Amino acid sequence: MTLTADDIDAESLHSDFAEAILAGLSQTARNIPCRFLYDARGSELFEEITRLDEYYPTRTEIGLLNAHGIEIAKLAGNGCAVVEFGSGSSRKTHILLDHMNTASAYVPIDIDDAALNQAVAQLKQQFPELPLHPVHADFSHGIALPREIENAPKLGFFPGSTIGNFELYAAVDFLERAGSLLGEGSHLLVGADLQKDLDILLPAYDDAKGVTARFTLNLLHRINRELSGNLEVERFKHRAIYNQRIGRIEIYIESLIDQDVEILGRRFSFGKGERIHVENSHKYTLPQFRDLARKAGWETDQVWSDADDLFSLHFLSRV
Ligand code: AVJ
Repeated sequence: MTLTADDIDAESLHSDFAEAILAGLSQTARNIPCRFLYDARGSELFEEITRLDEYYPTRTEIGLLNAHGIEIAKLAGNGCAVVEFGSGSSRKTHILLDHMNTASAYVPIDIDDAALNQAVAQLKQQFPELPLHPVHADFSHGIALPREIENAPKLGFFPGSTIGNFELYAAVDFLERAGSLLGEGSHLLVGADLQKDLDILLPAYDDAKGVTARFTLNLLHRINRELSGNLEVERFKHRAIYNQRIGRIEIYIESLIDQDVEILGRRFSFGKGERIHVENSHKYTLPQFRDLARKAGWETDQVWSDADDLFSLHFLSRV
């Protein structure tokens, strides 16, 4: 079936998602920005990933926050406003705030309105005294902080190695913009995943239960649902490879056969083995991450990692 323009509602044609998919699939090196993996179902599957045995980052970072929370609170100082970039469920924030009993406010920033509301409702219960100022925005665009925290010292929080999604230049750019947003004298606590043996790294992105594969391939279901696609999801597979040269996991959707598909009335041909690049997850050494922070105008005051050197937490100060 070929769709005519009338069949496809104007809204889906002009959505951010539609534009990204049509543009990304029209390139020779096909790619789709990873933020589109996180629709409601995608976020649910990602939560499931964070509980997998193979996926070490979440539990390791939580361990570091618990082990060093008191020291983090000391370094940040009294009366800090905590500003979190891409707060999602704010699960790790509960741990951080537990140790920061002198925090003056919490500002979660997220594009997902539902996640933001839910996180705020939960935090209100656990920290009834703490002023909450949610900001519904895409932190990768220009945003402003709420007036209420204007005069408070600021601690930025960017956990989960979300920074690993960015290409190097974009990571520097993000850290720079976080610096100008938070202002002079501010601090930033960032989680960064570390380089390690492939027998630990690869299963973290290709688990035995196939949850990560479902997470990746959910993007095809989303295309079918939201962009009138006719993709047969079983004709594609999830593939995670480690790019040794750049030091990152690359996630692809790979076509298992030669096939044609339709999206928003447009035809796309895939050869067997042809791939769509859907995510990067950069892995750093401690000196690499320190350099990256310095390029963006941040000095590293303290770094914590676990005994197995799986994951790291960096406490930065704006120079
Ligand atoms: C959310 C970017 C931190 O890179 O480990 C996990 C995303 N994708 N498994 C990561 C992800 C597949 C995750 N981050």
